[in-house]
Amino acid sequence: MTPDVRVCSDVNEMSLRAAQAIVRTINDAVRATGKCSFVLSGGSTPRRLYGLLASQFRRHIPWDRVHLFWGDERYVPAGDPQSNYGMTRQALLDHVACPAANVHPMLTGFATADLASRDYEATLRNHFPDDWPRFDLVLLGLGGDGHTASLFPGSSALREKTRWVIAARAPADPPAGLTLTLPALNRAAAVYFLVAGPNKADALDHVLAGSADSNLYPAAGVRLENGTVIWWVDREARFGNDSWSVD
Ligand code: 6PG
Repeated sequence: MTPDVRVCSDVNEMSLRAAQAIVRTINDAVRATGKCSFVLSGGSTPRRLYGLLASQFRRHIPWDRVHLFWGDERYVPAGDPQSNYGMTRQALLDHVACPAANVHPMLTGFATADLASRDYEATLRNHFPDDWPRFDLVLLGLGGDGHTASLFPGSSALREKTRWVIAARAPADPPAGLTLTLPALNRAAAVYFLVAGPNKADALDHVLAGSADSNLYPAAGVRLENGTVIWWVDREARFGNDSWSVD
């Protein structure tokens, strides 16, 4: 199936168009079920988007109906500069009236990342009583190596079939972290990838080609069972540095 790729002129346009789509998706979910489960991504790309959701679009989202989750987390304290929760707190949560009871961060105060992953899976199971979580919307990024969330090339995490959340090892310092697994991601109703910059062009090309090995390009493992994937990308990520083309 041809991927739904929205090529934008730059990260500003990408963030604006993705924010508009997120507002629609959240409101659609709330109209249908009374709530929306929204998984946030770490990384630098979503920052501008989070800023738009916290300002220009803040009043367009029923934050009291939104439950926020995270797709992955570094195994650092919440106040650490590398914390995804810390980044989203600063860029978004501190500016919107999402009830504390609706904010579900991946807690990193356990002795090991494995214990933390089991704690987070219990949190998810409390919210999703069925046999798999069905998130209304998941934001994901793409690394230049094809990783997404904290699912990295060659990782045994890519073969996980039953756990919803597992400990992960990233080529970062510290390496330990947590990530949603592919089976948990692939039950989502919608996934929005946010990809910007020429350093993502090669990985994006491989993943969009549809034939990429998910062991080499983990983002290629995001194939929803019954859902919508939209790739929000800027020109440089889609075409590298050498050509112009926007939707
Ligand atoms: C994280 C994300 C990670 C990120 C990619 C892209 O915890 O950082 O889960 O998967 O989305 O590494 O990061 P950038 O947006 O910074 O390029």
